[in-house]
Amino acid sequence: MSRALCPGSFDPPTNGHVDVIKRCLSIFDHVVVAIVANPSKSSLFDSQERTAMLEELFKDDLDRLEIHAFSGLLVDFARERNVDVIVKGLRAVSDFEYELQMAQMNESLAGINTLFLPTNPEYGYLSSSLVKEVARMGGSVEGLVPPMVAAALKERYA
Ligand code: PNS
Repeated sequence: MSRALCPGSFDPPTNGHVDVIKRCLSIFDHVVVAIVANPSKSSLFDSQERTAMLEELFKDDLDRLEIHAFSGLLVDFARERNVDVIVKGLRAVSDFEYELQMAQMNESLAGINTLFLPTNPEYGYLSSSLVKEVARMGGSVEGLVPPMVAAALKERYA
């Protein structure tokens, strides 16, 4: 059984994240979503809130999708969960350099491979940080995040 790990901050999950996770579900038998509990930047939503959002978004797939918050090294979490491969979405060349570095570090630390999935061009410009900025300043995030995330952002910035 193939098991993939989709790690990220998901603060908050965007339509780009949802697209990558859905595509992982179409490729792999089982998908583990790993939410970094303490992202480098301080988070708007805590890890329980981000977990709850993803659980709600993927409530129909929980038979072969698990969602966990983690802290510490991603490779340790990957070992614990017995995953075969890490999957990261790549939006643009600007993502590539950092993602390549992380992929090579993770490979050298634990021999775990990373596969890159090109983001759907529809979501190529999307990032959680920009979504938060738009929402904070009262702009519309419709079409950028799932409706329940848009509602959570509206409430957080009310
Ligand atoms: O959504 P992001 O911010 O691109 O996710 C980055 C993430 C969570 C995948 C990365 O920061 C990570 O793996 N953090 C865990 C700590 C770790 O393993 N650091 C070494 C990475 S080479």
